[in-house]
Amino acid sequence: MRQNMYFSALTIIFLSLLLAFSACKGKSENKVQETLGKGKTTMTLEKKEFGTMPDGRKIDLYILTNTNGMKAKIANYGAILVSLIVPDKNGKPDDITLGYDHLKGYLKETPYFGATVGRYANRIKDGKFTLNGEEYQLAQNDSDNHLHGGTKGFDKRVWDASPFENEDSLGVKFSYLSPDGEEGYPGNLSCTVTYILTEKNELKIEYEAQTDKATPINLTHHSYFNLESQGSGDILDHILYINAERVTPVDSELIPTGEILSVKDTPFDFTSPMAIGESIDRVSGGYDHNFVLNGEEGTLKLAARVSEPNKGRIMEIYTTEPGIQFYSGNFLDRSITGKSGKIYEKHYGFCLEPQHFPDSPHHPEFPSTILKPGEKYLKSTLFRFSTIMDNS
Ligand code: GLA
Repeated sequence: MRQNMYFSALTIIFLSLLLAFSACKGKSENKVQETLGKGKTTMTLEKKEFGTMPDGRKIDLYILTNTNGMKAKIANYGAILVSLIVPDKNGKPDDITLGYDHLKGYLKETPYFGATVGRYANRIKDGKFTLNGEEYQLAQNDSDNHLHGGTKGFDKRVWDASPFENEDSLGVKFSYLSPDGEEGYPGNLSCTVTYILTEKNELKIEYEAQTDKATPINLTHHSYFNLESQGSGDILDHILYINAERVTPVDSELIPTGEILSVKDTPFDFTSPMAIGESIDRVSGGYDHNFVLNGEEGTLKLAARVSEPNKGRIMEIYTTEPGIQFYSGNFLDRSITGKSGKIYEKHYGFCLEPQHFPDSPHHPEFPSTILKPGEKYLKSTLFRFSTIMDNS
């Protein structure tokens, strides 16, 4: 009897240990798959609820994952890139863009985290321009100037979304019809922004638009990157190369003066890779400038390359645009708590926004940003990721 009791007790202990062990093993196997991000043999596209607009409209998050563990999460609110998860030199994935975990954050105030910016990226002086003899008054949302499309730009609109899959890529096409007069702009402008994730660890963004009245247009992408991982510290040690020998200087309101100056012997010379923090103290307020890209407008060319020494990620940006705005996160000031409870301090992220030059409607010497009826606006930008291991 006693022996039987011992025997059952031992059996129970043994079985419990076995159960605990297999639970742990299961967990750690899942963990490994999660960590390496390689549990998948095919690319996947999922749709999840992201939140609800004050008027009751539901907002979705599209999650694109490739088999290398790279993941892009995009919301149909603002066609915003909410998260970009990329493996580091050891294959460990991290989220490398700043933002919010929930829609609520984006509905409050956001400094354009991950946003699709339109109709016009950056500033238009006094929010005014004259086109075909007619003067247009735009929303003035940056003192007297117009910034990033106005009070309710494209980053604050709900877009229609259609996901699609190709053999070695998948994506989502977002569409939005900006009505005549919106934020003061002329013409009904129909736009699409397509995000595509490839097996080569590239995130492509393609822009298309057509209008029924001539209008300025300058769409861009406004992610704040930290290639170590979002919220982990400042980006001053990131090494930056910009394929630009010239820059458009700005006045005290960050409006281009119209000059186009050589970067030679200035803190804007990133033609040889340089740490972002190296000369930043010589730029009043930090970098917030448009660089004039070498090469031909309209052809996809290398615009910038950024590498982060610790985790070893490298990001290359290719674009058909003639310029790129380099913004070193100067206005981040601890007032925002972002994803995973991280507090964003000054220089915690940088933006490289492929675009036309700011305030072009006032500068006929800059490449034109006017889209006319019958024309098709077609632009593309590509973010390509690798690590120092791939290049060693
Ligand atoms: C752009 C502008 C900056 C700032 C940020 C967002 O990069 O040039 O001045 O507005 O967007 O805060």
